[in-house]
Parts: sequence; C-alpha cells; structure tokens
Amino acid sequence: MPDGGRLPIVGGNWKMHTDRAQAHRLLDALVDELDSLAGVEVVVCPPAPWLGDAADAFEDTSLAVGAQDVHWGAQGAVTGAIAASQLVGTVEYAIVGHSERRNTFGETDEQVNLKLRAVLGAGLRPILAVGERHEDREAGRTIEVLQRQLHAAFEGIPQIEDGFVIAYEPVWAIGTGLAASPEVAQEACAAVRAVVADRFGADIASRCRIQYGGSVNAGNVEGFASQPDIDGALVGGAALHPDAFAAICRAVAAAG
Ligand code: PGA
Repeated sequence: MPDGGRLPIVGGNWKMHTDRAQAHRLLDALVDELDSLAGVEVVVCPPAPWLGDAADAFEDTSLAVGAQDVHWGAQGAVTGAIAASQLVGTVEYAIVGHSERRNTFGETDEQVNLKLRAVLGAGLRPILAVGERHEDREAGRTIEVLQRQLHAAFEGIPQIEDGFVIAYEPVWAIGTGLAASPEVAQEACAAVRAVVADRFGADIASRCRIQYGGSVNAGNVEGFASQPDIDGALVGGAALHPDAFAAICRAVAAAG
C-alpha cells in the first residue's frame, strides 16, 4: 500500500458508451475478472440507464458502482437531471467535475462545488475530477489551475472523510492516447495533495486517494501506480475492454 496506508482505487468511466446488451456483458465479465481482487478498490461508472443493472450485477461482490455526474439540486423541475439523493441505494460513488462536463457543458467551479456538496449531503462518495487544459500547461499555470479548481470545489466544506478520492486528469491527456508521463502526473498529484493538506490538514491529506486519469492503459498504468502520490487511476477508453480494465486493476493492486 502507498504512503498513509491508502487503498488504491481504480475507476472505470464508460462515458456515453454501450448499449444495454453490451453493458450486461461488460458487467458480467468484470465480476468474473475482478470480484474479490485484494489491494485495490474498483468502481465502475456506466451510463445512467444501466446504473440499476450494475448495482444488481455487483450485489454481493467487491465491485462498487459510481455515477458519472449528478445535479446539485435536491429535486425539482430540472428536465433530464439526476439528483444525488436519487442515486442513494444504487451507487456508492459519483464523479464530480469531469472535464467533459466542465468543457462540453460549461460547468463552472461554483457548480462543481454545489455538486460536491450534494454528493456529500446524500452520503455518497465523490470522485472529484480536476485538471488543466493544454493551454494552461503551456503557459505554466498547471498548479495554479489545480489550486483554483480544488479551493473552489471545497468552498464551504469543513472537512472531508478519510480516503476521499480526487482524480487528477489533464484535459490534454483524456481520450487522446497522449498520457502524461508518470513524473508529470506525480508532480501534479503532489500539488493536489498539498492543497488538501493546506485545507484539511496533513493527516487527511495523507489518507486522501489521488488517481491519475488520461489515456491510462494496461501498458502504462504501472508507471503511474508506482508514483508516491498516485493511488490508482480513472480510466475511460480502456474501461470498455474487460481484459484491459482487469489488467489495469491488477497492476494497481500489485504496485500497492
Ligand atoms: P481516457 O479517459 O482513459 O479515455 O483518456 C479518462 C477519463 O476521462 O476519465
């Protein structure tokens, strides 16, 4: 296990992929491959229509279900949105602040904060995603952007629980095949941990789990998992292939 006794965590974000039959095959294959794998927590985030199917498939297994997004409201006239409280009983985790939400749907730091509060308020566990765009990195603003996103996300949140999950996902590495180098990812994840320490104290920071995400595959995951501040991965494309996703989970467990 890495520093702080942190249990690594791998998330699979299916995004808007799979039809129902494909989802069922994938869920069954993941249970076959990964149920009871020691040394890593595995969270699968299918599209919303299959969340209930995932919860059924993972019942009595070690695998957890996560939502890809939530709305911040408790209820109301918000067509198409899903409240965090409506996911209780079906999912354990919810991704908040994914860059595809920020960039495609224009979600702001303030909305990410509201979503994070809603997830915490519902008793679910967030996976808070942050990451800089290519132009931020080019301009030398990576750490500044991460600090801004994190401080904004944590606004008004007095404390976070042990094992809180943050995904560092540089936007330029997502879905591009151009993963960050392990050193670049480590530097950013260390900066993320420093913000958590600054806000919530060194103890909580040492137990916070920080994933790297962005073109993670079975071939490159070990380089990330062996870094001191990286505690797993958030996986997009490779999460749709049960063999690749299982290999990633096993590599993370082995590195821990
Ligand atoms: P990718 O996506 O693995 O396809 O780059 C990662 C993510 O968006 O979480």
